[in-house]
Amino acid sequence: MKTVTLSTLQAFKRAGETFSCLTAYDASFARTAAEAGIEVLLVGDSLGMVLQGHASTLPVTLNDIVYHTRCVARAKGTSLLMVDLPFMSNATTERMLHDAGELMRAGAELVKVEGEAWMADGIRELTRRGVPVCAHLGLTPQTVYQLGGYKVQGRDAERAAQILEDARTLVEAGASVILLECVPANLGKAITEALDVPVIGIGAGPDTDGQILVMHDVLGVTHGRTPRFVKNFMTEADDIPSAFRRYHEDVKARRFPAEEHSF
Ligand code: KIV
Repeated sequence: MKTVTLSTLQAFKRAGETFSCLTAYDASFARTAAEAGIEVLLVGDSLGMVLQGHASTLPVTLNDIVYHTRCVARAKGTSLLMVDLPFMSNATTERMLHDAGELMRAGAELVKVEGEAWMADGIRELTRRGVPVCAHLGLTPQTVYQLGGYKVQGRDAERAAQILEDARTLVEAGASVILLECVPANLGKAITEALDVPVIGIGAGPDTDGQILVMHDVLGVTHGRTPRFVKNFMTEADDIPSAFRRYHEDVKARRFPAEEHSF
């Protein structure tokens, strides 16, 4: 398999081909996911919930993310390694530059940051220094207490227009990828069509360029309420490598997400 780079994702978009993304937090699962063909691995701050047992992603520190990035980077194979900037890394441009620098040193190839159009300056400065950025819009888990819970975003026309405008602004500032979480499928489609850069979705419908899930959800290790956009691929697989392969194949064939996983 050829090494996946940003250019690969752009080529997928131009060709109308989808790509699969999955979270990974350690070397063993990263290797298994990469060997299954998953194109993008994300060291997500979801590790605060699925590994550390917190109720949100907010307690995750830069050191936590650096540690897991080093583990995944050793086993990422040909997959592209995206890594989350943790809560408050976006507080100032200086902090964003510092924290992104630490992540890139640990092995990140693309940093993901949650926020809105106000991050444009930070993203511009990162891009200027050669750090590729994915801007995470829609439901941003780091602002869960302000949002009043893990709720679908952009259901009304005004908020939908705002998310689209934010995406445009951040791409203009230099974002190479947009990630949309929990938005109606029609908004996921509209934003994907409006932008030249690859758009990754989670709970954003079937029409985004890429799809991402949390590894534990793919393996059926979901505690509490199962979100609508989640699918347990272990029910159709004999083992973990087959579940990852099935997820990858279903994304590539646009069998996942189906209507039942969309808003
Ligand atoms: O932290 C994470 O796992 C994420 C995904 C849910 C996209 O940001």
